[in-house]
Amino acid sequence: MIAQKSVERILDTARIDEVVADFVTLRKRGANLLGLCPFHTEKTPSFTVSPAKNLFKCFGCGRGGDTVKFLREHEGFSYPEALRFLAAKYQIEIEETQEQRRDDPEEILKDQLFVVNQYARDYFSKQLFESEDGKGLGLSYFKERGFRESILKKFDLGFAPTSGSALTIHAVHEGFRAEILQQAGLSTTHNRDFFRERVMFTIHGLSGKPVAFAGRILGKTAKGPKYINSPETPIYHKSNVLYGLYFARQAIRREDNCYLVEGYTDVLSLVQSGIENVVASSGTALTAEQIRLIKRFTPNMTILFDGDAAGLNAAMRGLDLVLEQDMNVRVVVLPDGQDPDSYLSALGPEKFLHFLETERKDFILFKTSQLLKQSKNDPVARTQVIKEVVKSISRVPDPIKRGEYIKVCSQVLQVEEALLIAETNKLVAADIQKNNRDRERQERREDIQTTSPDPTLPTAETKPEKHPPQELDLVRILLTGGDKIIQVGDEEYSVANYILRELEEEVIQEFKSPLLRTIMLDFMDRIEKGNSISPKVFLQHPNEDIRNLTIRFLSPDYQYSDNWEERYQIVLHTQRMPEDNFARDAQLALQRYQLHKLDHLCEMNAQRIKEAFEAEDEEQYLHYLKFQQELQTLRNNVADQDLNTVILK
Ligand code: GTP
Ligand code: MN
Repeated sequence: MIAQKSVERILDTARIDEVVADFVTLRKRGANLLGLCPFHTEKTPSFTVSPAKNLFKCFGCGRGGDTVKFLREHEGFSYPEALRFLAAKYQIEIEETQEQRRDDPEEILKDQLFVVNQYARDYFSKQLFESEDGKGLGLSYFKERGFRESILKKFDLGFAPTSGSALTIHAVHEGFRAEILQQAGLSTTHNRDFFRERVMFTIHGLSGKPVAFAGRILGKTAKGPKYINSPETPIYHKSNVLYGLYFARQAIRREDNCYLVEGYTDVLSLVQSGIENVVASSGTALTAEQIRLIKRFTPNMTILFDGDAAGLNAAMRGLDLVLEQDMNVRVVVLPDGQDPDSYLSALGPEKFLHFLETERKDFILFKTSQLLKQSKNDPVARTQVIKEVVKSISRVPDPIKRGEYIKVCSQVLQVEEALLIAETNKLVAADIQKNNRDRERQERREDIQTTSPDPTLPTAETKPEKHPPQELDLVRILLTGGDKIIQVGDEEYSVANYILRELEEEVIQEFKSPLLRTIMLDFMDRIEKGNSISPKVFLQHPNEDIRNLTIRFLSPDYQYSDNWEERYQIVLHTQRMPEDNFARDAQLALQRYQLHKLDHLCEMNAQRIKEAFEAEDEEQYLHYLKFQQELQTLRNNVADQDLNTVILK
């Protein structure tokens, strides 16, 4: 552990503006500095750094704190990691308290693994540049491929010697235990070198430390897998490492875009040509953790696909994961048989960059046209394409973005926008419900109140359980079919107009739920102004609670009455599928609302009767009694209403 004395020195020395400036571009604004918040996406800066207070604060997302907090949030450091980073930056020597260090075996092991990896990194590098084999086999190989020494040094490339256990022997000689070499994956259980006669790629963690290695076989003729990798260790989890990210971070932030390639050598090539905002997934499917890593630096990524069409469809399916994280994804497909490295060599940097910039396409649009091309004119395949596209669109958390995709895709696919909207909404709603169920399960398990910051989850406001069911039912009808035209007697109305006319504004003002009241009044306003009241409008509504509520209502659960009765204690008399019978649904809902209201009035009036009776106020007593009779008559009339006069047009 770091001695308290050192901690204090580090905290006293570290300047928030200097620390933040390594990661965020700051501009002076009065006594403070201002920049774009690295923790959330924003177009106008609300991220403030106060040198005087030695604190940062974002007025957009609310994050704030000192230098350590910044590094922990921004770089994902642990507390000691952040302190060590600061100590290195300010060249402060750290005093360790030995006894406590022994306490945490996990931390000690990690430290040991880092140290042995540092040793191996230096060893491989020395071999590459100084040994006969290294120079003859390794360095010449890299040079042949066009990699300059500066890039080899920057990325800590190396060479693993041909002899079976050179590294192991040297390391043990230096005092490393065989056991730790094995745990790091550098030695086999027989104490032979794991990497032999390969060119070596050091894989860096976010703070630049070597967490693992990859070794590439020399040439094309040798036997064995082309690449071998260090195993998973306490300091190396494949799923949350991206090759090159340590070197690319600044450029990614600066360019506000991250290029994603498959191979180690692709990264080296691009960086050498001046395209520094590039990382590699190392040939595996992209994980959610990796996407989140990128997202810390930019919401935009451009994926470079190798030009073999075979893997493309599978790769595209994996990308829905990226959309889910609210990333803007563009793709570039390279010509057949090329990978970024080879194509860059073929074109030269300038043309290559031009190619990237002109050829990149929005992922969903690309996927749509790609699938469409493959489906030709086969109607079954076309249906499948629509499903696939809808699946991708439904992954986009931002409803406005979703709406835009629907618009464009409906043109490309030549299907009705309404169909795409309906299909997308079903998936979105199913997703939200799944989230809710998962969360409810989670909450039950934990038995604590969780405050979920996930914006795709409904807030408390949109939980239907919270609202009076009769009010909720009316709003459900408005939101899902308020624009449907029905005939009442000789006249035609929209469902919304019919309901609002029956209720009148004063009644709406009495709605108990503020959210539902707002929605009703919003409808009234729209109808008065002649604005659209289609469900689409409410799916894109600026008010998030209204959006979420609409999504929930459009979900399958709400469309079947069985579930409704069970969950919200609302008795739906007729329809299994209300959307087939909006008129009746509207009328029944109105009736239920009015009955409920009249029941409530009866109850209140009964109370007054009782009070007047007890006060022996005969006049009041008779007055309320008469009123009660009127209420009862009214109630019976409402209950007996002939419901067959309204028909759906
Ligand atoms: P070069 O052929 O040297 O240009 O490498 P490359 O990066 O272009 O290789 P390729 O396109 O074949 O593979 C892309 C990435 O997939 C590599 O960078 C590796 O991360 C990974 N990969 C390829 N082959 C293997 C293998 O045999 N084993 C493992 N574990 N990973 C591999
Ligand atoms: Mn390659």
